[in-house]
Amino acid sequence: MSDKNRLTTTAGAPVPSNNTSATAGERGPVLLQDYQLVEKLAHQNRERIPERVVHAKGWGAQGTFRVTHDITQYTCADIFSKVGNECEILSRWSTVAGELGAADAERDVRGFSLKFYTNEGNWDVVGNNTPIFFVRDAFKFPDFIRTQKRHPKTNLRSPEAMFDFWAAQPESVHQVTILMSDRGIPVNPMHMHGYGSHTYSMWNKDGVRHWVKFHFRCQQPIQNYTNAEAEKLIGSTRESYQEDLYNAIEDGNFPRWELNIQVMPEAEAETCGFNPFDLTKVWPHGDYPLIPVGMLEFDRNPENYFQMVENAAFSPSNKVPGIGYSPDKMLQARVFSYADAHRYRLGTHYEALPANAPKAAAGLNHYHKDGTMRFFTNDFGNPDAYYEPNQYGGPVADPSVAEPPLRINGDADRYVQQESDADYVQPRKLYAEVLNDAERDRLHKNMAAAFGPCSRSVKDRWLAVLEKVHPDYAAGVRAADAASDSDVNAIPVSDETPTEAAE
Ligand code: NDP
Ligand code: HEM
Repeated sequence: MSDKNRLTTTAGAPVPSNNTSATAGERGPVLLQDYQLVEKLAHQNRERIPERVVHAKGWGAQGTFRVTHDITQYTCADIFSKVGNECEILSRWSTVAGELGAADAERDVRGFSLKFYTNEGNWDVVGNNTPIFFVRDAFKFPDFIRTQKRHPKTNLRSPEAMFDFWAAQPESVHQVTILMSDRGIPVNPMHMHGYGSHTYSMWNKDGVRHWVKFHFRCQQPIQNYTNAEAEKLIGSTRESYQEDLYNAIEDGNFPRWELNIQVMPEAEAETCGFNPFDLTKVWPHGDYPLIPVGMLEFDRNPENYFQMVENAAFSPSNKVPGIGYSPDKMLQARVFSYADAHRYRLGTHYEALPANAPKAAAGLNHYHKDGTMRFFTNDFGNPDAYYEPNQYGGPVADPSVAEPPLRINGDADRYVQQESDADYVQPRKLYAEVLNDAERDRLHKNMAAAFGPCSRSVKDRWLAVLEKVHPDYAAGVRAADAASDSDVNAIPVSDETPTEAAE
């Protein structure tokens, strides 16, 4: 047998059998010294890693980003320094609430994560297919996610919990409207837009900062499933997104998105009439038009899904000089949360895994040493320079890449972002001006189907929120609820009287 084809142990020794256990006599028992059997079983027990706490179900692809327009007036990031610049990209699209084995075509927000492997290191945009989010303070994120996951007693998803929470957080109505609209079930990841959602910033070579929103405009038509279509599809396949995406790329139909930015001069944040750092609000296109920047094309399926997609670690903390954060409270929390999740989910040196290694970076020099997963050299070729400062020419920080000072003022305190009329303006515009009659009708029915199993008190509280968006919205959902038999399969809710806080 050739060495090339010969099965070996992980230590490289040839293996005599991979099918038959070594036993004492023909009928057993098994010998403990059959180390390869022990090894095989032990490895199987370690094949799963924790699924992502959110966005567990996902689909990925690799490709190239190419700069098509000059935005050097806004950013000094090297990737944008010249029209025609290119870099490799990795994307992972996902649903939020479902577990790793969830059906693909479920009504949910879709995650839209991107890793740009640039010369200056990895730049990640970890966004969604919606330009906004349900809440605007990170304190509320774990509670929000809890309402999307399973009830502790029934172990079922709980519409009661979802709408109870949303009714108490009326700023969520903008995102819930998008979720319950046609765009709540894209036919697959290739037919939806992507958004960075948060406000980020860019600074140019003169240190001038602009606030920026990222938009990934889908170059394929926007296509969605109705509830009925999705239910039928899930009955025949739960993996429709993986199938569609994988097959499209294998067939040479490469999905593309155009990167656009909206730009706001730094000082205008004080005068623009709304809080541009509120994640529940968009910047109107009329005031802040889309500026084209470049094209993303995905032309490769990962050779190994686990290695490139399950092991991928996207984080808003991965940014490059010329691109920065904003005061958005949610973004600030996310900058902490993702790397923390990666250390838990993937391990100490998760950045060295093939999906995450900064493969295009001009250099990789840091002082993190040792620890589990340290399967690469720990001295970057200079063993004496293992602390800093040192006299041995070890890596030193480069002040020229420092971000210009971020102007902030005010007293440190807990500032409640109170519900206000402004929370209803944008959902009202979406409902009354962007959607047409047929889309509004489906929105009413989708919402009624989703909250059908809820208690009367939750329904009434949620309808009161819709009323503030538009009376027709509340009336439409109320009528659709009355006409539907969606509470036939109602999940029992607690008999306890709702607390005052929930009323
Ligand atoms: P525009 O008329 O310029 O933009 C409307 C936007 O809404 C378009 O991007 C359109 O996407 C998108 N859209 C259409 N149907 C839906 C849907 N069911 N769910 C989510 N988005 C949808 O107006 P404005 O910029 O003034 O925004 C008006 C409202 O549109 C906002 O209040 C917000 O609710 C929504 N919106 C705004 C976005 C923004 O960044 N300004 C982005 C997305 C939504 P398409 O171009 O594919 O038709
Ligand atoms: C995944 C936290 C808000 C988009 C995750 C993960 C965590 C997390 C811990 C799992 C990461 C991993 O294991 O790799 C948070 C917190 C938030 C928040 C604390 C608010 C304070 C948001 C928002 C968006 C978003 C506002 C979109 C605009 C995503 C996406 C993923 C994800 C797309 C999947 C990443 C991937 O594909 O690997 N989030 N999140 N999250 N989150 Fe958030």
